[in-house]
Amino acid sequence: MHETLKKIMPPPAKSSGMTNREFSLFSQFIESTCGIRMPDSKKLMLESRLQKRLKHLGIGTFQEYYDYLVSKQGLRDELVSMIDVVTTNKTDFFREAAHFTYLTESVLPRIPKIEQQNGIKVWSAGCSSGEEPYTLAMTLSEFARNNLGFRYSILATDICTEVLKSAHRGIYDEEKIAPIPQLLKKRYLLRSKDRSRCIVRVCPELRSKVTFRRLNFMDETFDVESPFRIIFCRNVIIYFDRETQEVLLNKFCRHLLPGGYLFLGHSETLNGLNVPLVQVNSTVYRKLA
Ligand SMILES: C[S@@+](CC[C@H](N)C(=O)[O-])C[C@H]1O[C@@H](n2cnc3c(N)ncnc32)[C@H](O)[C@@H]1O
Repeated sequence: MHETLKKIMPPPAKSSGMTNREFSLFSQFIESTCGIRMPDSKKLMLESRLQKRLKHLGIGTFQEYYDYLVSKQGLRDELVSMIDVVTTNKTDFFREAAHFTYLTESVLPRIPKIEQQNGIKVWSAGCSSGEEPYTLAMTLSEFARNNLGFRYSILATDICTEVLKSAHRGIYDEEKIAPIPQLLKKRYLLRSKDRSRCIVRVCPELRSKVTFRRLNFMDETFDVESPFRIIFCRNVIIYFDRETQEVLLNKFCRHLLPGGYLFLGHSETLNGLNVPLVQVNSTVYRKLA
């Protein structure tokens, strides 16, 4: 490094490992702000994810980082970035594909014609980088092609600002779109003019059907325009404890129409939870009328 720069720049901070006490501070804080459980088995993962923030901020120890995070300034300037690194955002187009077949064959045809024509509202809750809401948009647009007058809109929310940015852009690597059927790729995706870049973009008509917003499920009330006919909340509640799951699912129910549908991830279950829902298919539930 140039001598003058050496004088101006502070030496790079070297961070030491996370102690058990620090881990417990972070895990309690994370669980209370975004519901995500951090059992001891996640210590190494949390340490390496938070390390990125320490490095970025030039902070040397986890204790210093924690003190900053919970300070007035940290809650204002750092909380969102901390949440961005601790969320797990794995997703795919047509993930758990049976849900989209069930939607087309059993859910949509049963919705009263008048409601279909007024427009049905769908919420992808915990939408990550957009693959789930765009899969929904393709499925609903296909249904609309065969059912004249069918209209829909999709709200897609997530707590993580980084994934929301890429969801909004709607640009994906070619390998990401492998699960999309060929016909739908042709209809709804645009190739980059520069063929050496192996990327595609969701077409504007489909993008215009999805509104992306940041929303934290731990918020007391959800500022969303409800009620919805269908809510997809898949592979999200698995990270929460049973009590938080029950509170959240009851909140979803308040935003669902009577008889509305809730889709959960394949490893998520309502067993033992006190919620006004009945199971109608594997991990698909209906709100009691
Ligand atoms: C594993 S991804 C699932 C994405 C998609 N639903 C799917 O099944 O492919 C879980 C998403 O939930 C989001 N999430 C976690 N905690 C949340 C919270 N408290 N509020 C809102 N979203 C949250 C994460 O940011 C992440 O993008």
